[in-house]
Amino acid sequence: METNVSLWARLQAAVPRGVNISLPVFAAFAENAEMRDVEGRRYIDFAGGIGVLNIGHRHRRVMAAVERQLQAFTHACFQVTPYESYVRLAERLNELAPGTAPKKTIFLTTGAEAIENAVKIARHASGRPALIAFGGAFHGRTMMALALTGKMNPYKAGFGPFPGDVYHVPFPNELDAGSTAASLRAIDELLYSSVAPGQVCAIIIEPVQGEGGFNVAPFDFLRALRTLCDRHGILLIADEIQSGFGRTRRMFAVEHSGVVPDLIATAKSLAGGFPLSAVTGRADVMDSVAPGGLGGTYAGNPVACAAALAVLDVMRDEDTLGRAEKLGARVHERLLAMSRDLRFPCISTVRGLGAMLAIELVRDRASHEPASDLARKVVLRAADLGLIILACGQHANVLRVLVPLTASLEAVDEGISILERALEESLP
Ligand SMILES: Cc1ncc(COP(=O)(O)O)c(C=O)c1O
Repeated sequence: METNVSLWARLQAAVPRGVNISLPVFAAFAENAEMRDVEGRRYIDFAGGIGVLNIGHRHRRVMAAVERQLQAFTHACFQVTPYESYVRLAERLNELAPGTAPKKTIFLTTGAEAIENAVKIARHASGRPALIAFGGAFHGRTMMALALTGKMNPYKAGFGPFPGDVYHVPFPNELDAGSTAASLRAIDELLYSSVAPGQVCAIIIEPVQGEGGFNVAPFDFLRALRTLCDRHGILLIADEIQSGFGRTRRMFAVEHSGVVPDLIATAKSLAGGFPLSAVTGRADVMDSVAPGGLGGTYAGNPVACAAALAVLDVMRDEDTLGRAEKLGARVHERLLAMSRDLRFPCISTVRGLGAMLAIELVRDRASHEPASDLARKVVLRAADLGLIILACGQHANVLRVLVPLTASLEAVDEGISILERALEESLP
């Protein structure tokens, strides 16, 4: 029988090291919030395949929908012979996206592809080239998505040149009262000194930064961005790829602020483990592109569309948003208790929104020096103890919880208790 160790050796020989692997744990089976590795060891899954499994691994209704679709057809290419499931899913996302204006949706495959298409549509609709994005943002690994990403290492360094006309400004920090004003001033300064407002097609923002460290954009900041965009005819794009589909206890995180973006990019938990992404936006903006300008051979794959329709049914019928609220409250309470525990002065903050929560690890609360090594140790030790958890943040010192929203509170408690033990055992 292959073990994690023997498979790791094969992986290292066969796969380039640029694909950075969090854990030397090879998945063999998964259900809801639990996973088993090839050696039969059990794990609570706080990663959800990086935020893909808000309704858990292999939800019964998703599996049934996929099996039905497998019996019908697995590929047709929507641009050749369309299918109803794509249209129905578009109708449903158009309904769910915030705002009352008529909307349209295009489906793609990955998050990065959704971002590429959101930019294409925004440029076409506005006839303008420039984009404003944020420091610490992560929008994907294709060239335009990388151009928009606000972190050099390991994502961008060595891969340029990137598409031009992309400007970054600081992402505000909800824990620092002055930072909203500082970010807005940075945009004003940018529009004064580097790019005219009439040249900017869109501002793109993650309402809660994912890879950047679970930083919540202050709601008044999002509202100020909306006002600024309206003043200058700039489109506002919300990247909800990690924060969407109930993670923050709303369907989309941007809803907490009351702001209606012009375009929303989604992926990950949209299709419960099948590769699917989408751009949903104002119909007039989406329709600006002429026929043939958008699409892709696999874009909106019928198996993934069937899965996504089942995901939305589950979210409606099982009150996933209500679950997110309860589960988020529990995780928050437990993480706060950890941060107040005298054993853990290394936890500087507990932050996030709804069930999109994280703790930041520092060497010392006063200096706020990031404890990246400690975070790495905790992730590895947690896996030894039966918890899969991921780090994120500029210094990889933030431990984030992306547990399925369908997890039982017992599973959540068990996971946090493992995290607690892993942290204690990893302290110097
Ligand atoms: C906010 C955000 N945008 C875009 C992406 C890119 O998605 P994908 O990896 O599916 O291309 C991610 C992936 O982590 C993400 O978190």
